[in-house]
Amino acid sequence: MTQTVVITGFMGCGKSKVARELAERLNTTMVDLDERITARTGRTPAQLIDEDGERAFRTIETDTLRDVLESHEAGVIALGGGAWIVPANRELIDQYHCSSVWLDVPFEVCWSRIETGAEDRPLGRTKAQAAALYERRQPVYQLAKIHISVRGHEDLEELISRIKSLTS
Ligand code: S3P
Repeated sequence: MTQTVVITGFMGCGKSKVARELAERLNTTMVDLDERITARTGRTPAQLIDEDGERAFRTIETDTLRDVLESHEAGVIALGGGAWIVPANRELIDQYHCSSVWLDVPFEVCWSRIETGAEDRPLGRTKAQAAALYERRQPVYQLAKIHISVRGHEDLEELISRIKSLTS
């Protein structure tokens, strides 16, 4: 079995889209961690954070990630934006010998998607809150094995080819 590729990066950086496309190109299965959490709990990450708090959400997130990795069902995993920030999750990713890819997208590009997107993101409800979180998380995203700098104008095919060549 080839290495599982884990896609990380800030909210709005395009993790799910890139992961879906990469999985298709690699002819493998993609798991979106946030979607898996929703299927498991019957509530979205936003609802979990709002109703039970971020801490409770992070516990569920780690449990779900562990189950996905343990099952070896995914060739590609799209994390939620905060999952990589939690040390226990990075340890799990390491333990399962995954390849980690950071989609490094400028804040303004992420913010415009957060602002206009339909998804509720409780940790990025204001621009100031999102910007502070972005700055705080950059050094942790840096810890990913592969750094893909995306300026916003690249087409998806080009990005997938870059990721594919660096992960295979
Ligand atoms: C979060 C990002 C969200 C989701 C939750 C928390 C974060 O996922 O997991 O709202 O802490 O950055 P996306 O990155 O897919 O928006």
